[in-house]
Order: sequence, then structure tokens, then C-alpha cells
Amino acid sequence: MKTINAIILAAGKGSRMHSETPKVLHDLAGKPLLEYVLAAATALAEQTYVVYGFGGEKVQKTINQPEVKWVEQAQQLGTGHAVLQALEQIATDSISLILYGDVPLISRQTLQNLLDKLNKNDVALLSVNLENPTGYGRIIRQNGQIQAIIEQPDANPQQLKISEVNTGFMALESGLLKTYLQALNVDNAQGEMYLTDIIKMAAQDGKTIGSVLTENQFEVAGVNDKTQLAALERAFQLEQARQFMQAGLTLKDPSRLDCRGSLTFGKDCEIDVNVVFIGTVILGDNVKILPNCIIENCKIQSGASIGPFARIRPETDIGANAKIGNFVEVKKSKIGANTKISHLSYIGDSTVGAGVNIGAGVITCNFDGAKKHQTNIQDGAFIGSNSQLIAPVTIGKNATIGAGSTISKNAPDNALSLSRGKQISIKNWKKPSKN
Ligand code: UD1
Ligand code: CA
Repeated sequence: MKTINAIILAAGKGSRMHSETPKVLHDLAGKPLLEYVLAAATALAEQTYVVYGFGGEKVQKTINQPEVKWVEQAQQLGTGHAVLQALEQIATDSISLILYGDVPLISRQTLQNLLDKLNKNDVALLSVNLENPTGYGRIIRQNGQIQAIIEQPDANPQQLKISEVNTGFMALESGLLKTYLQALNVDNAQGEMYLTDIIKMAAQDGKTIGSVLTENQFEVAGVNDKTQLAALERAFQLEQARQFMQAGLTLKDPSRLDCRGSLTFGKDCEIDVNVVFIGTVILGDNVKILPNCIIENCKIQSGASIGPFARIRPETDIGANAKIGNFVEVKKSKIGANTKISHLSYIGDSTVGAGVNIGAGVITCNFDGAKKHQTNIQDGAFIGSNSQLIAPVTIGKNATIGAGSTISKNAPDNALSLSRGKQISIKNWKKPSKN
């Protein structure tokens, strides 16, 4: 087996994105586009090269993968020129697998199929049939054999009708690739060194060109503008939702779920509409997520119910059968089993025991302007509505906090603690009047 090198082309500026951010760093389901391609490439290749140009420093810093080799293409003279830059570092008797930094959803399986094609061919190409092939290089065949790829601006009206197009992904021996690339010229409509011109050279040389035809248009779809980015995001989310449902998750509407990271779930979990999962989220069995929640990097134990309109922030653990209600934000906190936080609360940097009831509008005041402090609420405590717990503070077991209290000292077990201005009533009080 020859060594496999992945070459990812990512030097383009992506002007149609109208952005200061290099195109390959734009976000798809919580990750930069380039990360998807890198994951697919590094799964198959011994060494991965990324050809960068515009915003290269930013790209390298964001991606920060020490095993990737970065190759600069100072001037974007075409896809052939881009590949040639990487080949300077690549042994001739290896395989080069070419990928695109802005085509994120390419699957490992398809790339593997492409590499397998190379066993019986000199060149392997990934093609797709498109209803509207506009803009793509057309695959020219004679008696079924691939003869050339003709770019859109160079194609004649007959060729423009061809619906089988070049996805850009290809694999071949690095030495052969280099030989052809060094022979490229810029005699074409765009005055660029076309990588695709090597196909004609190979065919004329009597080399065999095999192709893999993908049925999945999304895996070869590129991102050139924000409309395409949004379309791919939707496609990705829908596919993810489909996989979740196949694995037993109940979704009220698969088109209104966003998962930007990884979601693990037990049996009989139900997700209502407009829920966004971010980072690594783990759900136990029978978890119910009501509409309009944001749930990030946390664990929700079996039987718990979240929302509607709740925000669960990172490093939170919601205990079994706990209930987090509307307009409740929980951050970096452990909430015990059967605890209820039903309305309008902020619970941050807290440890809350089991069977605790937190009334409407309770706030843990965790930040003193400089540092964060802990709140500890022990089992069975009852926190009256609209109380503020000034951290650091501990509320003891089965303690009761009177509604409307500001608690700045520890509250003992089993006692009622409250701090309120005494209520007075002034009789015969005259309302202010204008005259
Ligand atoms: C290219 C193919 C076309 C194919 C299409 C699929 C060529 C000549 N044409 O066309 O057959 O149908 O992709 O999407 O290869 N890049 C560089 N350096 C450069 C030029 C481009 O790194 O000098 C990178 C771009 O960042 C991009 C990729 O190569 O990721 C493709 O370049 P682009 O200009 O978009 O090629 P297309 O015209 O779309
Ligand atoms: Ca393109």
C-alpha cells in the first residue's frame, strides 16, 4: 500500500461571502467548514496538507492542528497551481487525494470508494449528476471513457448540456500528478492553471480514468455564498435529525432542531420544537425538552423536564426527575433529583440538593464584580419567591427562606430564615394630588 497524502485546497478568498473571515472558517453546525474536511481527510490519509492563501494566519490559528502541514499559495493562479505547491513536499511514489476546504460534507466512505477506484485505474474522479450543472466542470466521455473535463467558461453549447460534472475530488499517484501539473498552461477562458486539465493529458497518455458517481449532492456541494452556507446547514441538521430519530429520539419537528455538537440520549426522550443543542449534551432516559430551549455542554438525568424557554449553560448537571421551567437560566451548577426551579430564575455556580423547591424569580448573586462565588442549597430546602442568595452562602437542609428575602448569611437547617423590611400601613394617607 502506498502512502496517502490529502491535499485540501483552501486558498480562495471567498469574495462572495462578503466577509473578513476566510471562507473556510465560516461556521457549519458549530464548527468551521475546514474542520469537517480535515476530519474526513485525516481519517484516511497519513499526512494532510492544507493550501492556504487569504487569511492564512487566522486559519492556522483557529484550526490549530499540529499534525496538519500548511502550504502557502501566495497568488491564486488556479487549482492546478495550488496542488503543485503542496506536491513540492510530497514523495512521488505516494497517492495524492485532493479535497476542497469549502466542500465540508464529503463522507469518509465516498473518499474510500474513490481510493478503491484507484486500484484498477490510474486516476480516480468523483462526479455527480446535477439537474443544473451551471458553473461546474463538465465530464467529457467517449464510449463511456472519460476523456477530459471542460470548465464552464470554456465549454461549447453541446458540452454545456452535459449533466455529469466534476466535484473536484480526485486521487492519483503523486508523481504522475506532478508531471502533468508541471506541463499545465493557462490557455483558457480564465487564464488559470486548471487542475482539471490533467485529465485530458492522462487520457491522451493512455491512462485509465475511473470515476465514482455520488448520489448525495450535499456531500459535494461547495459553499460560495451565505445562501449556500445556510442550505448546507439545513441539510446537515435534517440529516442529523433523521439519524437521531432512527436511534429512537422523538422529535416534534425534525426541521426545527439544531444540534451544534454531539447529542447522546437514552430511551423515550422527547424534544419539542426550536431546541438548540450546543457542544456535548448527554440526556438520560425519559427526558422532556419543551419548546424554545438552549442547552449547552451539560448532562440531564433521566426523567428531567426542561423548558419551555429555558437556558442550560455549560458544566451543568440536572438531576433525575428535576424540573426546570420557563425563563430559568442554569450555569455551572449541579441540581439534585426531584428539585423544581419552575419560573424566572438564575442559578449559577451552585450546588442544589435533592427535593429542593426554588420559587419564582430566585436569583443566585454569584458575581461580586471581580470573582464568582458558590451557592450551596441543601436537600429539601424551600426558597421563597423573589429571593436573592448572595454568594458565597449555604442554605441548610430543609431550611425555608421567606419570599422576598435577601440572604447574605448562611441559613441553618430546618429553620425559617428571612430578611425583609417590616411591613407598615399608614392610615388616612393622602395620595399626592396636582392641586
Ligand atoms: C473547480 C473545478 C471544477 C469543479 C468545481 C467543483 C478547476 C479548474 N475547476 O471549479 O471542474 O466542477 O471546482 O466545485 O479545478 N483554490 C485555491 N487556489 C487557487 C484557486 C482555487 O486554493 O488558485 C481553491 C479554492 O479556495 C476552492 C477550490 O480551490 O476551495 C476550487 O476553486 P474554485 O475557483 O472555486 O474552482 P471552480 O471554478 O469552482
Ligand atoms: Ca467553486
